[in-house]
Amino acid sequence: MGVSFTLPDLSADPAERYAELAEYARALVAGEPDRVANAANLSALVMATVPGLNWVGFYFFDGEDLVVGPFQGLPACIRIPLSRGICGAAARSRETQRVDDVHAVPDHIACDGATRSELVVPRIGPDGALVGVFDVDSDHPARFTPDDQRGLEAIAAVFVDTLA
Ligand code: SME
Repeated sequence: MGVSFTLPDLSADPAERYAELAEYARALVAGEPDRVANAANLSALVMATVPGLNWVGFYFFDGEDLVVGPFQGLPACIRIPLSRGICGAAARSRETQRVDDVHAVPDHIACDGATRSELVVPRIGPDGALVGVFDVDSDHPARFTPDDQRGLEAIAAVFVDTLA
């Protein structure tokens, strides 16, 4: 199948590191259209290579709610209405939510009490419809920089490209 499961030896520079990670992610999903398989492997890749994370995963929009899909981390909230939480905000606004302090967001849904900061990327399909969100949590406050945001948006885009 042409994929080696040796993790990439990533550069120390954050932007370069994410470019290398996106390239590896593209190789990991190449030729595979199954969204569960790709979401599972991309979650595992990000958890194994991006330091300081406690939850990485995919929620899928079922037409009503965001429903948890493949992830790495503690068991999570199964269904999130679009009206709720940071994931709901990302899905509603179709804009990435980068939250330095989840305790400062009254609407935050605490799945893992250790989570302090969070980045949620909406995933919009090739037809313009909401597919779901890619949710990355950290137990460190303000873990996510603009470089992390760009890098993790690129990983979410790798997933969306497999749906085309
Ligand atoms: N914290 C999210 C809920 C999902 S869990 O973090 C996995 C939110 O407020 O949307």
